[in-house]
Amino acid sequence: MKPRAMLAAATLAALFTAGASQAQTYDAARARQDWVLNCMGCHTANGSGIPGKVPALRNSLGHFVSLPEGRQFVMRVPGAANSALNDAELANVLNWLLATMNEQSRPASFKPYTAEEIAAHRRPALTDVARTRMKLVKQLQENGVNAVPEHY
Ligand code: HEC
Repeated sequence: MKPRAMLAAATLAALFTAGASQAQTYDAARARQDWVLNCMGCHTANGSGIPGKVPALRNSLGHFVSLPEGRQFVMRVPGAANSALNDAELANVLNWLLATMNEQSRPASFKPYTAEEIAAHRRPALTDVARTRMKLVKQLQENGVNAVPEHY
């Protein structure tokens, strides 16, 4: 291959890689429907939650998934773990939430959830949500992230 052709090929390859990593990894229409039927009743339409009762899922999940244990926390809270959604559907809803309500908080290195990952970790559902959550919030604070409130 001539040097110029090689350069062009390398540029194209780089473009493809960049494109692939940003490719949409969820089915938005399915996610919205599953969200409406399974999550929205408690978490409210725009994911801002109900003060004193239900945490917001907006601008916080992205911080949780930056921690390995936080990545599992998100799928192991009872509302998610015990929902009627199958593993692929739950992965889809979580990826949609992370892409549409957590664009700012989501780390650039975030790898979308897969059905296999959900299947491996969603059960048993957490029984000590408050304690696990507090531990994660403290870890985030140690990392300089104060955006996730200790109490909701
Ligand atoms: C019956 C009401 C209800 C439903 C339905 C529900 N949740 Fe929740 N969710 C809660 C409550 C209450 C909490 C706080 C933790 C706890 O007490 O379980 C919570 C916590 C969470 C958290 C942790 C957020 C944080 O800041 O601690 C995530 C993530 C979550 N829910 C996702 C979902 C998803 C996804 C669905 C739909 C598949 C869903 N929930 C359905 C009530 C609900």
